Amino acid sequence: MKKSVMWWTLAACSVGMVAAQAEMIWLDKLDITGMSQGGGRFPRACKSVEHNPIRLGGQTFKHGVGTHAESTLEINLNGQAERFTAVVGVDDEVIGKPASVEFKLTGDGKELFTSGLKKAGDQPTKVAVDLRGVKRLLLEVGDAGDGIENDHADWADAQFAYTGTAPVASPIEPETAVILTPKPAAEPRINGARIVGVRPTHPFLYIIAATGERPMTFTAEGLPAGLKFDAQAGIISGSVAERGTATVQLTAKNAKGEAKRELRIVVGDKIALTPPMGWNSWNCFARSVTEEMVKSAAKAMVDSGLIQHGWRFINIDDYWQVHKDSTDAGAGSGHSGALRRRPFHRALSTLQGPHRDAQGRILPNPRFPDMKGLTEYIHSLGLKAGIYSSPGPWTCGGCVASWEHEEQDAQTYAEWGFDYLKYDWCSYSTLVKKPTLADQQKPYSVMGTALAKQNRDIVFSLCQYGMGNVWEWGASVGGNCWRTTYDIRDTWGNMTGLGFNQNGYEKFAGPGHWNDPDMLVVGNVGWGPKLHPTQLTPNEQYTHISLWCLLASPLLIGCDMTKLDDFTVGLLANDEVLEVNQDPLGQQAARIGRNGRTEVWAKHMEDGSVAVGLFNRGPVSERVTAKWSALGLSGKHRVRDLWRQQDIGVFENQFEAAVPRHGVVLIRVWPAP
Ligand code: GAL
Repeated sequence: MKKSVMWWTLAACSVGMVAAQAEMIWLDKLDITGMSQGGGRFPRACKSVEHNPIRLGGQTFKHGVGTHAESTLEINLNGQAERFTAVVGVDDEVIGKPASVEFKLTGDGKELFTSGLKKAGDQPTKVAVDLRGVKRLLLEVGDAGDGIENDHADWADAQFAYTGTAPVASPIEPETAVILTPKPAAEPRINGARIVGVRPTHPFLYIIAATGERPMTFTAEGLPAGLKFDAQAGIISGSVAERGTATVQLTAKNAKGEAKRELRIVVGDKIALTPPMGWNSWNCFARSVTEEMVKSAAKAMVDSGLIQHGWRFINIDDYWQVHKDSTDAGAGSGHSGALRRRPFHRALSTLQGPHRDAQGRILPNPRFPDMKGLTEYIHSLGLKAGIYSSPGPWTCGGCVASWEHEEQDAQTYAEWGFDYLKYDWCSYSTLVKKPTLADQQKPYSVMGTALAKQNRDIVFSLCQYGMGNVWEWGASVGGNCWRTTYDIRDTWGNMTGLGFNQNGYEKFAGPGHWNDPDMLVVGNVGWGPKLHPTQLTPNEQYTHISLWCLLASPLLIGCDMTKLDDFTVGLLANDEVLEVNQDPLGQQAARIGRNGRTEVWAKHMEDGSVAVGLFNRGPVSERVTAKWSALGLSGKHRVRDLWRQQDIGVFENQFEAAVPRHGVVLIRVWPAP
């Protein structure tokens, strides 16, 4: 008690005396609906974010606001506030969990207070800030660098002293879902990868992606021996025995005109010469996936027109196999304990069956009655098919995995006609308790070798969340891409925490081997069976796609393809943006500048141009500058806005733009005469 009296005396000294006529207002009396926050919950007046009484360091507070990092509230003070006082910390409701945040107050762009790192269980910090002359105050809670999970943060006993007009909380900057991508022209335009790798004698399948009015016919001149061409469908297929690079001249023709483009077919050891683009079942259907859902995703890839922008893979994630608890009454552990929930127990009946046949060959569960038929259907559309397994005895969801059957499984996948394998560590950790680097590499090298023996190109996607700096050795075990992160979620804090953390990994990416910060969370997502529209705002979604394209990351759509809305299609159908991802040079962008919450990322493109993202991670609009010198350029450059597909002008020395909160301006820069 004595301590707090002392503090108030000190506070009064350090912030100056409050004028005698000053009035007081609690923060929780303002309209806090404009407080943006992570974690998908709402800020609460006089309660923690989980609706409990606010408790910090064992003390309960009657007043305050409970929020979840990352959180922002802008308050208009009209220059009439005198003082802000509060007690801040991580709410006691998450004691024992890894929660850490940082509180920050900014007045008219100037930092007024930072709490430093606050963890669950820490004693709270008292805040007393002089606000005289300040017009706009920003209250922020950041995630302290370790993601936002459990970051329940309280502004307890928070109040303002003011004279005249009371402080007013600003609403969240209004955002409408503006579709920036122009509709494709009626004239033909050829899109998608300009370079493709295939191993000698292995089946080749490439459908020309082209927008424009139908009917459209195609030609492909200069195909290497062994390949045939379907001029109506625009599909190249067959196999090539001889190594080498063929430059094929593609044309697409309709009533409105003709488009031409070169395609390089490289017959050699490398595949995935550009980052794989497609769809994966996990972020929408998760453990409820069925063959029908996968087929409808493939069909929707065609019907939505996305196939005409280069999207190719249709990948089944976990749960195509039989489940280890394959009885209706099946007890036992499962994915995050979720199997113990009733509805899923009912679903287990469709996951029953023998794990393998008498020869040890893996068997799909009854939801996937015909794996070969499924890949044939996918291939008939010009698309490619992906499958999922784990090196341990069980997958992450508790289904049958590849341990001690690696070569046999690789052979089965090849026979079924799969073109992509995601291989997820999970239960391998039950086999090696404290894995050394060699232990971490071994199962991937075993499967990498098994895949290499197949008479089919199978993209090998390592999923072990970045353990042992996988980016340093993923390629050496045959990996074409490797997850560098834990699982993505559709929140601003999570998505940016993964994406903006890729800086420094760029030296490990290149044609045939890519860093993978996980799949896309746009459209209707939800880890099934219940889906919801992504919680990312429109600007946050532009940031997500722009960043993943700059990072040359695999692009795997994670939503229900049958429920695509126009905004989501716009995000996924911008050929100038996708070209940044699919550029044959295969460079991954690096951060070349940072100023407060704004960042500039850039990558060099094969034609000598530079793709640049001007990002604003902050809570209000900012001006962001890309300096030519930081890009290794000088003199005049033509700048094109890639989302709007419009030239902006010629700029000398630098380009500057206003970037909305959590938004991006994505440009490409060419030398100007
Ligand atoms: C996780 C993986 C997810 C998904 C899931 C399936 O380990 O990161 O992307 O594949 O397992 O159970």
